[in-house]
Amino acid sequence: MASSGFDGRVAVVTGSGGGLGREHALLLASLGACVVVNDLGGDVHGEGTSIGPAAEVVDEIRRRGGEAVADTHSVATEAGGKAIIDTAIEAFGRVDIVVNNAGILRDKSFQNMSAEFVDPVLDVHLKGAFFVTRPAWVLMREQGYGRVVNTSSSAGIFGNFGQANYGAAKMGLVGLTHVLALEGARHNIHVNAIAPVARTRMTEEVLGPLVEIVDPRFVSPLVAWLCHEDCVTTGHIYTVGGGRIARLFIGMTSGWARSDGVLDIDDVRDHFDEIEDPTTYSIPGLGLTDDLTALRDALSSPA
Ligand SMILES: NC(=O)c1ccc[n+]([C@@H]2O[C@H](COP(=O)([O-])OP(=O)(O)OC[C@H]3O[C@@H](n4cnc5c(N)ncnc54)[C@H](O)[C@@H]3O)[C@@H](O)[C@H]2O)c1
Repeated sequence: MASSGFDGRVAVVTGSGGGLGREHALLLASLGACVVVNDLGGDVHGEGTSIGPAAEVVDEIRRRGGEAVADTHSVATEAGGKAIIDTAIEAFGRVDIVVNNAGILRDKSFQNMSAEFVDPVLDVHLKGAFFVTRPAWVLMREQGYGRVVNTSSSAGIFGNFGQANYGAAKMGLVGLTHVLALEGARHNIHVNAIAPVARTRMTEEVLGPLVEIVDPRFVSPLVAWLCHEDCVTTGHIYTVGGGRIARLFIGMTSGWARSDGVLDIDDVRDHFDEIEDPTTYSIPGLGLTDDLTALRDALSSPA
């Protein structure tokens, strides 16, 4: 694909001073987008700040003939989110794409997880996506165009030991993605989520043998496609890493229903196998309609 589709487009990529975000920024810039390279420049736990990482990525983009500007505001506050979008407006006059990628880790087993481990993780991953996307959203609605990619994680979708804070934040981003996909649909704003697997400072010690294969560069093509104007998909989640991509979805078993709609604990116990049985399942669409339709259908033709 030539650069068409990104020429004149402005992308904000949070946390793009290193790791996955850097690759997203480099690819989007090489495809013709003007990129805001946002990065606070701290360590993997969110301590410290530095202009260095964002500035280096901007230099690299410019050396390759692309357009980019550095931004070091934190995504973790409302003021920071607004300032990041202001940087895009001041430098390039518009915002078409937001990639919510910034992230930190504060792992702890749940029984030892105090607020100092919970709050910063929710602030950066989950609230950060709110804080950066909302000021961009206002502009996207006005222009009738927008693409948002949220960075979730299999640690939230499937769970991972020692990451209650991170997992909750990352699954929260799935909920945010679904709601924004619904609210954005009639404004041509598409919102999707990825659950990447890549070798970065965040993961290099936990990937085992996969560490050789999962170059962060090979996550970015999916991000770029989800940000492309020809991509009509919205509200979907993908696992992506090492050159493999698959859609993840939330399915609903056929379940079991009582015709009178009255349920007691014995019903649950006696029909638990049917409730659990994944042999037949559906994938509800966005919004409540499919879920409520399934309920109505089950009550009109109970097992
Ligand atoms: N690497 C993986 O396999 C993997 C798996 C699942 C999810 N993720 C997610 O992908 C995203 C990128 O992670 P990565 O693996 O590239 O790690 P990384 O540490 O290299 O990148 C995260 C970047 O976010 C920046 N950042 C942190 N707090 C910030 C803040 N408040 N404001 C602005 N920038 C901030 C950091 O400085 C860093 O450059 C994260 O959201 C992470 O949770 C990564």
